[in-house]
Amino acid sequence: MLIIKHPTSLKSILNKKYLKGRTVGFVPTMGALHEGHLSLVRASLRANNVTVVSIFVNPLQFNDAADLEKYPVTIEKDILLLSEAGADILFLPGFSDVYPEGDQAARAHYDLKGLESVFEGKYRPGHFQGVCAVVDRLLSIVTPTNLYLGQKDFQQVAVLRKMIQLKNHKTKIVVCPIVREQNGLAMSSRNARLSPKGKEKAGEIYQCLKIINEKAAQKPFEMLKAIVINRLSENGIKTEYLALADTLTLEEVHSFDTNRHLIILIAAFIEGVRLIDNMSLQ
Ligand code: PAF
Repeated sequence: MLIIKHPTSLKSILNKKYLKGRTVGFVPTMGALHEGHLSLVRASLRANNVTVVSIFVNPLQFNDAADLEKYPVTIEKDILLLSEAGADILFLPGFSDVYPEGDQAARAHYDLKGLESVFEGKYRPGHFQGVCAVVDRLLSIVTPTNLYLGQKDFQQVAVLRKMIQLKNHKTKIVVCPIVREQNGLAMSSRNARLSPKGKEKAGEIYQCLKIINEKAAQKPFEMLKAIVINRLSENGIKTEYLALADTLTLEEVHSFDTNRHLIILIAAFIEGVRLIDNMSLQ
């Protein structure tokens, strides 16, 4: 696996003649890699000639400085995992490589319409502008054929689809399923901050999504919502939001509707760690 720090070196390698006409798969990450990331890397390896993974903890997408400070950094382990998985190139840029104009100039505004003011956007103001800024830059450097994203960050996928359209990037998004622990907890770099007991209890989030899904034909959504928020609370989990939304528009709806593709979205705190998860309605 090649480890490259500078955008110019990466561009020149990807422009080499032997790569012309070949497909490039790209997996952007912030490191602290787990099976969820590795499933994206494997999906890219299966479908592309070259797989590039980036690790860059993007300060612009953290609306809370304390959250950024606590973000786990495990670079040596990450390098080992990526080379074992067979990634071709690891791109490890510094802040000025991604944002040569510095902090302020990097804050381009993306017209995300309603997508950034709901759910995650409502509770993390500025977050999606930061995500768009970094992925826009990374796509300009890597110019991949395919961009691999996880379904766990459902709203992020919708936002990045919009950004790609706005900026006319020629990259196709490939969404990969959520990878879960045995108890159903969605894999996340943030899980590393949970105690073993907290990790066990956090499996309740998945159980609650399943309950809503299974009972959708029998009880109204708002009733199920109240039941599961209570169950989560009994397990030390504080729900920030639990909502039903249209998978295409992210419009919030308050009752089940079999004529629409709906998704249940949740954000909740356990042991002070904010976790998100989702489940499409069957
Ligand atoms: O999902 C993430 O880890 C980040 O938001 C991403 C896409 C790597 C951008 O920093």
